[in-house]
Amino acid sequence: MPPAPDLMENVVNLCKRRGFVFPSAEIYGGFRSTYDYGPLGVLMLRNVREAWWRSMVQERDDVVGLEASILSPPAVWEASGHLGAGFADLLVECRNCNTRHRQDHLEDPNTCPSCGKTGTFTEAKAFNLMFKTHVGPVEDDGAIAYLRPETAQGMFLNFLNVLQTTRKKPPFGIAQIGKSFRNEITPGNFVFRTREFEQMELEFFVPPDEGPKWFEYWCDRRFNWYLDHGIPPEMLRLRPHDADELSHYSAGTSDIEFEFPFGWGELEGIAQRTDYDLKQHAAASGEKLEYFEQATGERYVPYVIEPAAGATRTMMTFLIAAYTEDEVGGEARTVLKLDPRLAPYKVAVLPLSKKDTLTPLAREVLAELQPHFMTDYDETQSIGRRYRRQDEIGTPMCVTVDFESLEDKAVTIRDRDTLEQVRVPIASLVTELRDRLTVSR
Ligand code: GAP
Repeated sequence: MPPAPDLMENVVNLCKRRGFVFPSAEIYGGFRSTYDYGPLGVLMLRNVREAWWRSMVQERDDVVGLEASILSPPAVWEASGHLGAGFADLLVECRNCNTRHRQDHLEDPNTCPSCGKTGTFTEAKAFNLMFKTHVGPVEDDGAIAYLRPETAQGMFLNFLNVLQTTRKKPPFGIAQIGKSFRNEITPGNFVFRTREFEQMELEFFVPPDEGPKWFEYWCDRRFNWYLDHGIPPEMLRLRPHDADELSHYSAGTSDIEFEFPFGWGELEGIAQRTDYDLKQHAAASGEKLEYFEQATGERYVPYVIEPAAGATRTMMTFLIAAYTEDEVGGEARTVLKLDPRLAPYKVAVLPLSKKDTLTPLAREVLAELQPHFMTDYDETQSIGRRYRRQDEIGTPMCVTVDFESLEDKAVTIRDRDTLEQVRVPIASLVTELRDRLTVSR
C-alpha cells in the first residue's frame, strides 16, 4: 500500500508541535532549509546514532571509531576528486523566473517546474557542492579550507594512524558519525535533503580479492539493521546503481531505499570504493598508504567497502514508518510505534492526581528510574490526555502512581502498543521495565 497522502505533512507538524525538529532561525523567517533538533529530536537522534554505533562498533571486534575534523585543506579534496567534476551537479537557471534547478531532477528537461515556461533555461553549468571558507584572519587563496562533504575522507587520512595504534589488520573497519555539508541546489522534503546533515559511515578495509564477498556481507547486514529497528519490509528495497549513477570513486554501489511519501528515496549507499581513495592520497601526499603483513612479507593497498548512511535522514525515516493513527476506546489517537531503542523517552511517570499526597512518591519513582532510562514526568491534565501525549511521542511505557500506591508500594505499567496494564511492586519496577522494553522490540 502506498503511504497516505497527508503522512508527510502530519509527521512534519508533529515534529514541530512536539519539539522534534524546528526550522532554524525561525524568528528571522527561517534560513534556507536548515533545521534545529528540539528536546525530543536530540534524544531520538542520539538513539539513532547509538543504535548504529552499537551494531557497527560495540558488537564487533573488527571495527574501531574515529572523529575527524570538519575543516580540511584543498589538497585533501583535490586528491579525493571532490574538487573535480565528479562532485558537481549540473545547474540550470530559468530566464523567465530566475529560479535555479538541478538538471538531473527535472521531469521535463525543457520546462521550468517553478513557472511552467518552456525553453527558458540557460546552458547547464557545473556547480561544485562543497562549502568553501577561509581559516585565519587573511582571506587569501592560501587560507582556503572546505567543510567536509562526507565523513569518509577522515578515515582514509587516518588509515596509517589507526593501523599503527590498534594492531588491526584487514579485514577491519573505521567508523565515524558526524556532520557533513553540501551546498545542495535543491534541498527539500523536510530533513531528507539539507545542506548541513549528519552521516554515519564505515570504511571497511579488506584484501582486494575479498571485495565482492564483503560487499554482499555489508548490503545484507545493513538492510537487516533497518528491519530490526522497525522499518516494515515492504517499505524497504536494495537497488543496485546503474553505471551512469556511480560516484566518481565507486566500482559498484547498491542503495538501501525507503518508500517515502514522495517516492522511493536513498537511505544508505553501500559502495565498493576499491583502492581509489588510499591510492589517490598516497600519490598526492607521498605517504605509503598500504598494509604490510609481517608474517608473509606481503604488501598491498586494501580495497574499501563503504556503508554510508545519513543519521538525520534515518531519524526522519523512523518517524515516518512509526507514525500511526488508530482508535482507543472509541477515541482517535496518534501513536509513534517506535522501536523502544529509538524512542526519545522510554518511560513516563504519571501521578494520577496532582495532589501533594501523591507527588513525593511519584518523584521518588522518577528518581529511581532516571539512572536507568530516559524518563519523562507529567502531572498536568487528565490521565487519558497524558497517555495520548506520551503515545504521540512514542514513549513505550507509562508508569501510573495512584493513591493505592501509597499503601501497597506498587504502580501500574501501561504498554503503548498492547495497552495492557499490569500492577508491579516499585521494588521490582526497574527490572520489570527493562524486561518489557527488551521483549517488546
Ligand atoms: N561517503 C559516501 C557518501 O557520502 P552519499 O550517498 O553521498 O555517500 C551517504 O551519502 C548518505 O548520507 C545518504 O545515503 C544519505 O542518507 C545521507 N545524505 C547525503 N546527502 C544528504 C543531504 N544533503 N541531506 C541529508 N542527508 C544526506
